[in-house]
Amino acid sequence: MRRLIAWLILGAALVVIGLWIGCGGGGNTSEILIGEYSAMTGTTATFGQSTHRGLMMAVDEINAAGGVLGKKIHLLTEDTQSRPEEAATAVTKLITRDRVKAVIGEVSSSRSLAAAPICQANGVPMVSNASTNPEVTKKGDYIFRVCYIDPFQGEVMARFAFSTLGIRKAAILKDIKNDYSVGLAQYFEETFQKLGGEIIATQAYSEGDIDFKAQLTALKATEPEAVIVPGYYTEAALIVKQARELNMTMPFVGGDGWDSAKLVEIGGASMNNTYYSTAYSADDPDSVVQNFVHKYTARYDDKPDAFAALGYDAGLILFDAVKRAGSTEGAKIRDALTATRDFRGVTGTITIDSDRNARKPIVIIAVVNGEMTYKETIQP
Ligand code: PHE
Repeated sequence: MRRLIAWLILGAALVVIGLWIGCGGGGNTSEILIGEYSAMTGTTATFGQSTHRGLMMAVDEINAAGGVLGKKIHLLTEDTQSRPEEAATAVTKLITRDRVKAVIGEVSSSRSLAAAPICQANGVPMVSNASTNPEVTKKGDYIFRVCYIDPFQGEVMARFAFSTLGIRKAAILKDIKNDYSVGLAQYFEETFQKLGGEIIATQAYSEGDIDFKAQLTALKATEPEAVIVPGYYTEAALIVKQARELNMTMPFVGGDGWDSAKLVEIGGASMNNTYYSTAYSADDPDSVVQNFVHKYTARYDDKPDAFAALGYDAGLILFDAVKRAGSTEGAKIRDALTATRDFRGVTGTITIDSDRNARKPIVIIAVVNGEMTYKETIQP
C-alpha cells in the first residue's frame, strides 16, 4: 500500500513538472514561443478572429517549411475582449507567465497603446498588424507595425475627397473615445484645409453607440457635400444607414476602420456612394494577393479581409526577423525588425522606416451596388 502511494506521488510530481515545461516555464527548447493578443470576443471580435486566422496560416506555413532556427513556432493567443485594460493584462500574461520571445497585436490603436509600454519595459518586441495611430510606435524602440500610419492615410483620404470626388465642404463625425478616430479626423482636416477645402461641422459619438440621428441631423443642417467618418465599421455602417433614412444622399468617406465584409452586411444598400482607404483588397489582381486569397479560401472557406492579410504579414515579417537575427533574444529580434527592407507581403512591399512604421501603399475602395470595389492603389 505504501509503495503504491509513493508511486502515485511520484507520478503526480512528474505530471506537474511536465505541465510546467509544457507551459513554457522551463522553456521547451524545440519551440519558439510567440504571443498574440487579439480581440477574440467583445464589440470588435471580428478584428481578432480574422487576424488569428491569417496569423495561424503564417505559423503553419513556416513550420511546414522547417520552422525558424531549426525550431517550430508555437503561437499563444490571449483575448483582449476588445478592451484596452484587458490588452495590458493579456501582454503581461504572455510576457511574464509564458515568456514569449515577441508579441503580435493589436488591431485597435487604443489597445496597442495600452500594451506597448509593457512590451517596451520588458524588452519584448511587439509588432502591431493594424494599429495606424502614429503614437503607437512612439512608445519605444521595441514597438513596430506592418501597416501604414494615419498622417499618410488622412492625407490620401483628403486628396481623394477633394480631387477625385470634388468635395469642397465636408463634415466630420468621429468616435471621441477612440485614439485612431480622433487622430485620423485631425490628419484629414489638416490636408483638406491645405488643399482649400473647408470642414463646416464636426460631431462626435462613442464606440458602442447605436443611435446617431441627433448628430446626423445637426450635420445635415450645415449642408455638407460629404461626411467623413473615421471610425470602425461597427458604428460606421449604422451611421450611413441612419443618414440615408434622413435623406442624406451625399458620399460618406472612411478609413481602414471600415474594412470588413460586415460593413455591407450591416449597412446594405445604404453603403452605395461610400468610399474608404485600406491596406489591401482581395480583388487586387496582383499574383501575390491572389495566391493568398486562394490558399486562405481553401483553408477557411471564406474570403480573407484586411485583418487576415495583415495578421499573415505581421507573422511572416516577425519570423523573417527572428531568422535573420539568428537568435530569439529580444534586442537581436528588434535589430532585425528594424532592418526589414522590401519585404514582399500580401499587403504590399513593406519597408520598416526609422520610426518603426511600415512604408507601404494604400488602396481605395468604393462601395458600388453593395459590393466593395477596388478603385486604385496609392504609393507612399
Ligand atoms: N487602424 C485601426 C486603428 O488603428 C484599426 C483597424 C484596422 C480597424 C482595420 C478596422 C480595420 O485603430
